[in-house]
Amino acid sequence: MNLYLGIETSCDDTSCAIYSPEEGLIAYRTAAQLDHAKYGGVVPEIASRTHMKTILPLYETVMEEAGAGLGGLSGIGVTNGPGLTGSLLVGLSFAKALAYGSGVPLAGIHHIEGHILANAIEGPMGTPAIVLVVSGGHTQLFSVEKPGRYELLGGTRDDAAGEAFDKIGKILGLPYPGGPSIEKAARSGDPAAFDFPRAMRGSGRCDFSFSGLKTAVRLKVEELGRLTEQAVADVAASAQEAIVDALAIKSVMAVEMTAVSRFYLAGGVAANGRLREVISERIGAAGAQVSWPPARFCTDNAAMIACAAWHHLSAGRADGLDLNTFPRGGLESWA
Ligand code: KG4
Ligand code: ZN
Repeated sequence: MNLYLGIETSCDDTSCAIYSPEEGLIAYRTAAQLDHAKYGGVVPEIASRTHMKTILPLYETVMEEAGAGLGGLSGIGVTNGPGLTGSLLVGLSFAKALAYGSGVPLAGIHHIEGHILANAIEGPMGTPAIVLVVSGGHTQLFSVEKPGRYELLGGTRDDAAGEAFDKIGKILGLPYPGGPSIEKAARSGDPAAFDFPRAMRGSGRCDFSFSGLKTAVRLKVEELGRLTEQAVADVAASAQEAIVDALAIKSVMAVEMTAVSRFYLAGGVAANGRLREVISERIGAAGAQVSWPPARFCTDNAAMIACAAWHHLSAGRADGLDLNTFPRGGLESWA
């Protein structure tokens, strides 16, 4: 049985996983860093220090759970960008040390490719497909011919969808991260209470903009004054509806443009129940079949990185020990 180790430390989650192309996911652990919540966002210095403390015990745990020895691994995959440099360096240095000490091949994985291939952990992805990547740092629509061949159809001009959730959560005084908090608050709110903007609606392109929405929410909250629990729920539901609607409009456009029959969600915001509901409805009506990863593989995780490492290494794409991190940069095709 081939075993691939995945390591993900691009932001504030430390994660290790062992994936087998024959058996699927063998072992998986993520340590979420809770210290950031009180600052209302990720503090890079705290993130990298915490990765330093967490990564070795996490690695030892998954290896033990998989009953694997380092020398028995077929490959090691590590996220080397985009992300916070200090955080990425912890994972990359750790992965390089393992590869150097054992001779096991190493593959640097683009974080966004990881999110896309989270859809391939539990079985092969149906391609060609459109993939909507919606996370805290990214909102992009890709046309995926097959794993390794990606065409960017469009993305956000300013804030990512997850960032919009997080910033609006902060305005409403909800716990960080805003995405899950807004989804929870929205359950008792009226999504039609406030008509928030759907920017770029008529742009004719697969692009997004969420900074105007954030401003509209801030102005509305200022206008409302002291917020009752119901007002918070109504603003949360209306803002969530605006984000979901904007994402769905351009997703449908991408499916119609490419005439593909498969559509996937990826990234942290793909955990959102309302997004799943609306996308299923509208993409279904546009003639494509909709899927998404299980919630634990929507947010940052190493299972997707281990799975991506298998795709790279089985195609003969190993990286050398001179592999470096990169803070930003688009996903490019390699297959
Ligand atoms: O993919 P991810 O874990 O990290 C990045 O690569 O950015 O995504 C994190 C983002 C955060 O902005 C968080 O608020 C959002 O995903 N998120 C959600 C939900 N769960 C996580 N947004 C909306 N609804 C959710 N249920
Ligand atoms: Zn991510």
